[in-house]
Amino acid sequence: MATSANRFVHRPNAIDRLGRTVVYAGELLRHPVYTRFLHWMVGIFFFLALLSGFGIYLPWIFRFFTPLFGGGAMTRFLHPWFGLAFVFFFALQTINWLGVMRWTAADSRWMKRIKSYVANEEAVEPKDVGFFNAGQKMQFWEIVCGSIAFVITGVIMWFPEIFGRILVAISYVVHDISALIMLFGIFFHIYLSTFGEPGTIQAMTRGTVSEAWAWTHHPAWYQEVTGRDPYEAIDEARKQMDVRERESGPDSDRLSSL
Ligand code: HEM
Repeated sequence: MATSANRFVHRPNAIDRLGRTVVYAGELLRHPVYTRFLHWMVGIFFFLALLSGFGIYLPWIFRFFTPLFGGGAMTRFLHPWFGLAFVFFFALQTINWLGVMRWTAADSRWMKRIKSYVANEEAVEPKDVGFFNAGQKMQFWEIVCGSIAFVITGVIMWFPEIFGRILVAISYVVHDISALIMLFGIFFHIYLSTFGEPGTIQAMTRGTVSEAWAWTHHPAWYQEVTGRDPYEAIDEARKQMDVRERESGPDSDRLSSL
C-alpha cells in the first residue's frame, strides 16, 4: 500500500531535483530534499523568532540578543516576519506530511505504552509503529496548533490600534505560553534526534537511515518499504553479529541485547 511518504519518495518534485540524496547499501531513503529543505527552514526561522522574541519580551534577561539583529527597534521590526516565515514553511511541511501524520489505531496502542518508551525499556519498537510514532505525531500537531495561536495572537499584537487593549493583553499571555510549550517540546525533539536515538540526525542531513535504525524505531515502515519482516531481519542481523562475535570478539552491545 502506498503511503504519502512513499508517494513523495517516488515522485520527486522540482526542489527534490535541486539536491541529491545518496542511498548506500544497507540504507533506506527517509526524507527527500524537499522535506529536508522545509525542515531546516522551519528550524532556522523558529530559532530566529525565538531569539528575537526573547530579546523583545524579556530584555532585562536577554538584552544581549538584540544587537545580533541590529538593535532593539530592528529586532522588534524583524520578529513578526521571522514568525511568519516559520509558520509559512511549517504550513508547507504540514501539507507535505499530512498523510503520514494521520492518527491510527496503532498510535492509540503506542500511547498506552508511553511509559516504557520514556523509560527506554524495550530495544525495539512494536511491529505496528509506522513512518512516525505517536509521540512524533503529537508533537507535530502541537506545533500546528501553536503556529495557529502564534499567527492569531501575533497579528493582534502587531496592530494594537485595531484590536484594542484587552485582546492585546490576552494575546501576550497566549503567545508566550505557546512559545514556552513549543520550546519545551523542541528541547526533547533535539535530544531524541541526536544523542537520544543515535542515527536519527542523518535522516534530516543526508536524508537516509540505516535499515537497522528503521527496524528498531519504525518496524511497520521498514516492512512497507522493503517488503521484509522486521523481526526476521533483526534475527538475521543477530545471527550475523553472533558469528562475527565468535570470530573476532564482542563488537555490539546493542544487537546482542535484543
Ligand atoms: C537543531 C535542531 C533540530 C534537529 C537536530 C532536528 C532533527 C530532526 C530529525 C533528525 C528529524 C527526522 C526524524 C525522523 O525521521 O523520524 C526531525 C523531524 C521533525 N522535526 Fe526537527 N530538528 C530540529 C529542529 C526542529 C524545529 C525547530 C522544529 C519545529 C519547530 C522541528 C520540527 C520537526 C518535526 C515536526 C519533525 C517530524 C516529527 C518528528 O520527528 O518529531 N525540528 N527533526
